[in-house]
Amino acid sequence: MLDTLNNRGELPPEIARRRTFAIISHPDAGKTTLTEKFLLFGGAIQMAGQVRAKGEARRTRSDFMAMEKDRGISVSASAMSFDFASKDDVFRFNLVDTPGHSDFSEDTYRTLTAVDAAVMVIDGAKGVESQTQKLFEVCRMRDLPILTFCNKMDRESRDVFEIIDEIQENLAIDVTPASWPIGVGRDFIGCYDILRDRLELMDRADRNKVSESVEINGLDDPKLAEHVPAALLDKLREDLEMVRELMPPLNAELMAEGSLTPIWFGSAINSFGVKELMEGIAKFGPEPQIQKAEPRQILPEENKVSGFVFKVQANMDPKHRDRVAFVRLASGHFLRGMKMTHVRTKKPMAITNPVMFLASDRELAEEAWAGDIIGIPNHGQLRIGDTLTEGEALRVTGIPSFAPELLQGVRAGDPLKSKHLEKALMQFAEEGAAKVFKPSIGSGFVVGVVGQLQFEVLASRIELEYGLPVRFEQSQFTSARWVNGEKPAVDKFTQANPQHIAHDHDGDIVYLTRLQWDIDRVERDYPDVRLTSTKEMM
Ligand code: G4P
Repeated sequence: MLDTLNNRGELPPEIARRRTFAIISHPDAGKTTLTEKFLLFGGAIQMAGQVRAKGEARRTRSDFMAMEKDRGISVSASAMSFDFASKDDVFRFNLVDTPGHSDFSEDTYRTLTAVDAAVMVIDGAKGVESQTQKLFEVCRMRDLPILTFCNKMDRESRDVFEIIDEIQENLAIDVTPASWPIGVGRDFIGCYDILRDRLELMDRADRNKVSESVEINGLDDPKLAEHVPAALLDKLREDLEMVRELMPPLNAELMAEGSLTPIWFGSAINSFGVKELMEGIAKFGPEPQIQKAEPRQILPEENKVSGFVFKVQANMDPKHRDRVAFVRLASGHFLRGMKMTHVRTKKPMAITNPVMFLASDRELAEEAWAGDIIGIPNHGQLRIGDTLTEGEALRVTGIPSFAPELLQGVRAGDPLKSKHLEKALMQFAEEGAAKVFKPSIGSGFVVGVVGQLQFEVLASRIELEYGLPVRFEQSQFTSARWVNGEKPAVDKFTQANPQHIAHDHDGDIVYLTRLQWDIDRVERDYPDVRLTSTKEMM
């Protein structure tokens, strides 16, 4: 048996049992179905289908969500908590949802700063798809441990060795099978659990039933033949022989560094392989990790509570114009009503109404531990990248803001409503949904996003949430860079180039241009000024 990933000896049991992770996948691979089954086995919902049903109810409240549905993408990320009773212990799983579409990659990146691991779901017939690849690369930047689930094994799928090869080749990560499928497509009967040497059989008749496990004593156990047809059994023995020869064994350390991923095979819709995957998350999760911060890192077991905002979502409930800041707790034991320090403004903040999300219901969070995600309703004080502590001036690092790749001008349909437009834009900028720049010359705003689709989402949200029709139009600028340097050098530079200068919603100075040549020229003519395409949020 392998040890769990206890990185630094003993954590308090409440922290050690937490597993905070995200699912990454290409649209249609089965992320929603898998999430639903997680919640089902976690006891958070009674019946599969409820997540979707609740999703629908929520969506009818706004066309924006309808748009999300139409396009089959998930625009906004949220967090769900549920318990999972494994053989050894009851674990608390915190599942952070990632937006699936590439246009929202910055949001995804930030979401992944709040988790300790990612589950990568791939479709057994399709293998590694474009969006899997992109999301994987984001995980790689953070060296996140990855657990892989190869889904839809109940349908015709690709050869298993071929799938594993493709993952190793395309993603440059070693793969070790945690289970091995027996039969393909219609002949698929279940998996051999390599980690625990047992047989898991799929029940096609009941999609919500946990698979039947048959304890066996290794591959030579005569009991195998009672459950596996002879031809499939020969193939299984042959395959596993090759696996033992060719593939690395599961090594918890290599997995923790993100250089080895265990793969489970299953069928989310048939609830098959899901429990084994959950056992895998419980065992190799890993538990809450050390958080990088300045001037020192934060250990989850510290007594004092700290946390950071990785996402802000506005207007989650149209009846209350609130914003919810999603906070990942980095350390300690949080109790409702605690007074925290908002490090950026040095102001105290009483956290009286923190929420947690069970399936799609919110609940008041009476307590939470390092590793948990809590939502803090607020009126805009909390921004992405903010750190909360019990007084110490710590700042969590590594939550970047990327320069947008597309810029457009924006105009209110009704010119008398430009103040409203400004308010709406600032809100979306704070949420991290767009970059908003105010040029120092002229009126109006320049809005920057990563993908074209975000302009459409913004336009429909501004109309829905603020009753304001808007038009996005071509901007004279195509690139934005943040301006860094000592004040005298920056002042000299901005005074000489007012037509290129703007401010972002934090008041930071930005250089706008349409030519790479301009950027090169600045670097040449103003050696004391640095133009950067990322800025750390603080
Ligand atoms: P996503 O969130 O990653 O986009 O995928 P989602 O779970 O919505 O699944 C995409 C489609 O794949 C759904 O079918 C779903 O039922 C199906 N699916 C998920 N897991 C399995 C599996 O293990 N085996 C098979 N055969 N299909 C699976 P759909 O027709 O698009 O939607 P629905 O009508 O079933 O809801």
